[in-house]
Amino acid sequence: MPIIAPSMLSADFLNLEKDIDMVNNSLADWFHLDVMDGRFVPNITFGMPIIAAMKKKAKKPFDVHLMIVEPEKYFEDFAKAGADILSVHYEVSPHLHRNLQIIKSLGMKAGVAINPSTPVRLLEDVLPNIDLVCVMSVNPGFGGQKFIDQTTHKIRTLKQMIKDQGASTLIEVDGGVTLDNAHVLIKDGADVLVAGNTVFSSADPTDTINRLKSFQK
Ligand code: DX5
Ligand code: ZN
Repeated sequence: MPIIAPSMLSADFLNLEKDIDMVNNSLADWFHLDVMDGRFVPNITFGMPIIAAMKKKAKKPFDVHLMIVEPEKYFEDFAKAGADILSVHYEVSPHLHRNLQIIKSLGMKAGVAINPSTPVRLLEDVLPNIDLVCVMSVNPGFGGQKFIDQTTHKIRTLKQMIKDQGASTLIEVDGGVTLDNAHVLIKDGADVLVAGNTVFSSADPTDTINRLKSFQK
């Protein structure tokens, strides 16, 4: 069964507590939290204070996706705010190996997110150091975008790389995940599905999460 991580970017910010409770009481596994800085991506979302406030109510791990430049400046702050998994973008990390070590030394799992145009092969030499690869299936910046089809090829390549190296890295797919494409993504090798719009725009978000969770390989 896949790990399901609802993206709180599509939650109701006026009623965050209600949506946190919904996730707490669903079959979802993690909270996916999208931090954007208006520099790496053309949008600004939320930061440490909101994450720390959410942490008081949330009963599941925080999967924090940093879409910010110079992410290393804030690793400690995100650890304190409650991040359990912290992902940085490959495209803003010239010293990726060092970043992964620092994230782990702060007690978090270390993730790397890659844009749709970034080849998964670039992660080959650092794969055993990565707990989670977040394969972006939309251009990062906004929820509710259409899934980019070439992503399925990237998932299959990455799965084979992980297998070849005997690594235990998880593959997360982020962006445009729906009830229609979830099954294919899992069959291709996705371990974690992020879903924002699909969950929060549905008539029954709990049921949508439970349906995403029920897909088998
Ligand atoms: C996009 C974010 C995603 C986004 C997913 O930049 O990284 O996590 O919230 O939203 P949906 O599922 O609506 O595409
Ligand atoms: Zn994300």
